[in-house]
Amino acid sequence: MTEIGDRFQALRDRAEAEYAAWRNPERPRIDVADDTSARANGGEATRAALRQLIEQRGAAVELGSNHGYGMQWLQPLVTITWPDGASVVYGPVTADRVALIVDEATGRVGAAAELAIGVVAGDRPGIPSIREHPFFACEPGERRLLRNIGLTDPESLEHYVATGGYRAFARALDRHLEPQAVRKLLADAAITGRGGAYFNTGVKWNFLAGAPGSDHYVVCNADEGDPGAWVNRVILEGDPHLLLEGMVTGGYAMGATRGFIYIRDEYPLGIERVESAIAQAEAAGLLGENILGSGLTVTLEVIRGAGAYVCGDETGLLSSIQDMRGMPRIKPPFPANSGVFYEPSNVNNTETYANVPFVMRHGAEWYHELGTAEMRGTRLFTFSGDIERTGVMELPFGTALPDVLTACGGISDGGTLKALAAGGPLGSILPAALLPTLNTTLNTFRAHGGSMGSGGMVFISDRWCTIHLNELNSEFVEEESCGRCTTCHGGNQRMTEIFRRLIGGGGRRDDRHNLEMIDSTIQQSNCQHGQLSPTVMRNTLRHFSSEYDEHALGHRCSTLRCQGLTRFVIADQSDPALPEAAAICPVDAFHGVDGARWIDDEACVRCGACEDLAPRGITREAVPVAPAIVRI
Ligand SMILES: Cc1cc2nc3c(=O)[nH]c(=O)nc-3n(C[C@H](O)[C@H](O)[C@H](O)COP(=O)(O)O)c2cc1C
Repeated sequence: MTEIGDRFQALRDRAEAEYAAWRNPERPRIDVADDTSARANGGEATRAALRQLIEQRGAAVELGSNHGYGMQWLQPLVTITWPDGASVVYGPVTADRVALIVDEATGRVGAAAELAIGVVAGDRPGIPSIREHPFFACEPGERRLLRNIGLTDPESLEHYVATGGYRAFARALDRHLEPQAVRKLLADAAITGRGGAYFNTGVKWNFLAGAPGSDHYVVCNADEGDPGAWVNRVILEGDPHLLLEGMVTGGYAMGATRGFIYIRDEYPLGIERVESAIAQAEAAGLLGENILGSGLTVTLEVIRGAGAYVCGDETGLLSSIQDMRGMPRIKPPFPANSGVFYEPSNVNNTETYANVPFVMRHGAEWYHELGTAEMRGTRLFTFSGDIERTGVMELPFGTALPDVLTACGGISDGGTLKALAAGGPLGSILPAALLPTLNTTLNTFRAHGGSMGSGGMVFISDRWCTIHLNELNSEFVEEESCGRCTTCHGGNQRMTEIFRRLIGGGGRRDDRHNLEMIDSTIQQSNCQHGQLSPTVMRNTLRHFSSEYDEHALGHRCSTLRCQGLTRFVIADQSDPALPEAAAICPVDAFHGVDGARWIDDEACVRCGACEDLAPRGITREAVPVAPAIVRI
């Protein structure tokens, strides 16, 4: 074996021994999910309660961490691993239920049966495999990108190496695989960019490899600004070495010796995990100078995002890395010729890089086993909104979206689906009637004037008003405009004004025409932020035309969501929650006494706080429509 092979084998032996001991611990181990979703749902309180109880009882169990299995609605998730290697996931394990988990782990079999979700490794009598859970009905039998999630400690390099990590990269170095052969492999596999444009990654890597100059950079876009998307976060927090291996392979294949990982500041745990993974990989000789003694140098560095949506645009991101205002540049030149510090650079999304190690390990044909001829492989999707089960799934391209909605448990609270919002504020909003025609490929969305985006999908129930949603969206794209193009910042201001008027009850006959004019004007903007910002509005005028007309011409909102078209009234004077609802009113709009209360409509600001507190006592009703002549 060569020096490279020897060094990697030594690391692998050590890693495998360590991972085997973790998988088959001497004493049962309770791993509390430690990811943003778990933390947001009380995971840290669960850990503290477990620690306290274990100490109090002197229980013979260990406490550890993993990443949640993707079932966000069941957080905080906890996994028990027994010495025989069996692992079971439980949830939601709130702080007040930790005794059941400690009982179960210490031998009272069945104590936590009511919280058991499924077996993730080995066998446990009476508990089904987690793969049988209906939430995973659309996932392939075996996960690819998520294969380590829940089964490793994301903070351990050894766990990543023991499960096959860095092996293909070390082999490429060891066998002096031509960089060109790596790029060809990726192009053959047809990995497409997961940032939303789905351009062939191998072809893109050829652009940088062929660019003049010796200072080439690899850049990772982990800005993930789309509301409703947290797919990149799962990789950053759950398997950070997957990203690093993809990037260091990229450095090798494209002749880049330096790279940046641009992570949004709102992902502090992702930043922490990736920074720690970089330090571990450097210490193990897998990153940095003279990798595994091969002479190859690739250094990676985390850059904290500046909190602007346009910094997710690849050229806005490049400017931001240089400490310049996050303003998208004028193209051409493209990043492959003039990127970070105006040197040739390649920008890929986090998940795009994360796919690379798998293709290096298993080849293009294996990659083609899942997906469609048009879009190969799998991708991560996060599903949220008005559904029973929110979470992350790894789906082959081409998965039918009605099946996904079923896997998500359908629409919550007995509602019905009204719309699917995909791809964030620049993505699309398509009506429920089209759902049977949609699957997880670009073209099914494009056929209806929409786009699939970069993994975030929000199911919207019939409780919501699409005109109200457009106002929120419009306000977002206006605020996030970088300000370079008048067409974009001015156009989005005008679009927002019109939607504000529509929800305020001041719709005008010529609003549709004006919105269409704004749409064609914004197309003249420099970057895609501007060009794509009217898409949701365009979808609305086309697919929710009658709802639009109802607001603009009829001055009504049948969902009773729009501020100027709806008012709050007392529906049930006997509701005991009314005094509390009256007390919370920020503008003191409640008058009268118990049994004879009323709301002053002139004062009410429609915040809805009273309705939240007293849903039986307070209801919404349409405001009477004023004579049309007043509004013309
Ligand atoms: C306003 C705007 C925001 C964007 N945000 C992101 C983002 O958060 N993450 C991302 O990967 N791509 C984002 N993109 C797309 C990137 O410009 C670029 O296409 C992508 O990073 C390329 O990587 P890929 O080829 O791996 O998809 C955004 C584009 C625009 C116009």
